[in-house]
Amino acid sequence: MSLSPAEEAARRRTFAIISHPDAGKTTLTENLLLAGGAIRLAGQVAARGERRRTQSDWMKIERDRGISVSASVMTFEHDNLVFNLLDTPGHEDFSEDTYRTLTAADSAVMVLDAAKGIEPQTLKLFEVCRMRDIPITTFINKMDREALDPLELLDEIQDKLQLDTAPLFWPAASGQRFAGMKDLRKGDFISFRKKTADQQAEVGPSHRIGMQEARGTIDTMVMDELEEGAELATEALPEFDRQAYEEGHMTPVVYGSALRHFGVNELLATLAEFAPGPRPQKAEKKDQPIVVERSDKAVSGFVFKIQANMDPNHRDRVAFLRLCSGEFKRGMRLKTTSNKQINVHAPLMFLAQDREIAETAYAGDVIGVPNHGQLRVGDSLSENGDIKFQGIPNFAPEILRRARPKDPMKSKHLRKALESLAEEGVTQLFTPALGSDMIVGAVGSLQIDVMAERVAAEYNLEVVFEPASYNVARWISSDDPAKLEAFLEKNRSAVGTDLDGAPVYLAKNAWDVGYAQEKNPELKFTATKERLL
Ligand code: G4P
Repeated sequence: MSLSPAEEAARRRTFAIISHPDAGKTTLTENLLLAGGAIRLAGQVAARGERRRTQSDWMKIERDRGISVSASVMTFEHDNLVFNLLDTPGHEDFSEDTYRTLTAADSAVMVLDAAKGIEPQTLKLFEVCRMRDIPITTFINKMDREALDPLELLDEIQDKLQLDTAPLFWPAASGQRFAGMKDLRKGDFISFRKKTADQQAEVGPSHRIGMQEARGTIDTMVMDELEEGAELATEALPEFDRQAYEEGHMTPVVYGSALRHFGVNELLATLAEFAPGPRPQKAEKKDQPIVVERSDKAVSGFVFKIQANMDPNHRDRVAFLRLCSGEFKRGMRLKTTSNKQINVHAPLMFLAQDREIAETAYAGDVIGVPNHGQLRVGDSLSENGDIKFQGIPNFAPEILRRARPKDPMKSKHLRKALESLAEEGVTQLFTPALGSDMIVGAVGSLQIDVMAERVAAEYNLEVVFEPASYNVARWISSDDPAKLEAFLEKNRSAVGTDLDGAPVYLAKNAWDVGYAQEKNPELKFTATKERLL
């Protein structure tokens, strides 16, 4: 029985994983793919090999070239749902790509290291989710190691993220004594079976037993602790509330060990049960605000990432298009709002192990659109070219550098190159109001290296990056244009514009920003800029 496009869209679950490096995102991704049946293997050793194979040649090129591994998409079917797992590159190459990928997700899984709790990068990524009210499911990982007290962990989530927690499970100890977890809704116990000496992950159904049986086999102290903790948690914490979750105010919590494949089935089941399908998206049509629903007939979507110059011999690019409505068919012609036409002859679908040409795709899906540079990050595409999605945010860079060409005659040339990279979303480019400096901004330092490499490889230019006299950039706006104008005039040596001509305050440090804000309460200094594209 074939499903209607609206039904197909309704069964999409597009999500991303957010975490601090080393919390276990890669291991969890792999184990989710295993649990979902997208890849098959028996154990850890094979997993490493398989992981290598899951990355196609394409990825290999990216790796070999030292360019950030792209935010790719892994699609798998499970429980009659189509899961699109968006991979957010999260390591050294932490960049705006990571943030932008979240704009294409309908929900997120937050992975915490049970011994560490909320770490800086988790917090940053969480803020992006909050900005868009993206619902979050929490996976507390590495329970097979000594963990913080479970209540303490939940308190930390509550305090640092202002997010209500609703544990669906309660762990029985951690580390050496880790015995499993109680399913707080069903009232039974999922036991953690210690593995053989080489501690291979055991993939398959979870081992559920009654509490009685658990009592019979597990250390009494551990069981007492579990019952006591579970009782406390049930009394002290609110019950899971679906609406609060969907609005981004509450997170269901699952415990586990990605490495040992424990809790992964439960996480997947939780996603299947609660994660929302493709969300309605705010947009504009003929200057009127509209909301695009996944069941709308006309095909529409937005580009959240561009992977450019994959092959140095061809200026080819792949735009990652998140579909928001309609039934996309291979060969379709889509238009941007600036009336650029793209014939999508060979859209790429990203399965766990391969890339394939997509014949059809629906809201929630991500397809790769090969193009020759016509598409930009943030472009909206639709059948009539009349739908403009609300923007993908720009983030204030954390690193600012002054760029100059090694050959002083090549200044114009360099500006063009930097503008084109900024258009692509690789880095940002600011122009101070005074002088002719080019100030580039990046969220992570690897971005600067990637930029230098690309300027050399693609534009045949040697660029030198020097410390800038500014370290912080903030977008400035105000409801009162006169006040804004006056500020810009008065602070000409500390302001500039971004690629779109929007005013930016270039400050020495965060203290300066605070001071300027205090002195100019009618102005807004923001670390993100949402553009209507
Ligand atoms: P990341 O993508 O978030 O950076 O984390 P990744 O999955 O690479 O995991 C970081 C380290 O933590 C890896 O160890 C991984 O094996 C380990 N790990 C992940 N999940 C668990 C878990 O549930 N329990 C335990 N005990 N360890 C876990 P590594 O030694 O850095 O790498 P590797 O040599 O094992 O690849």
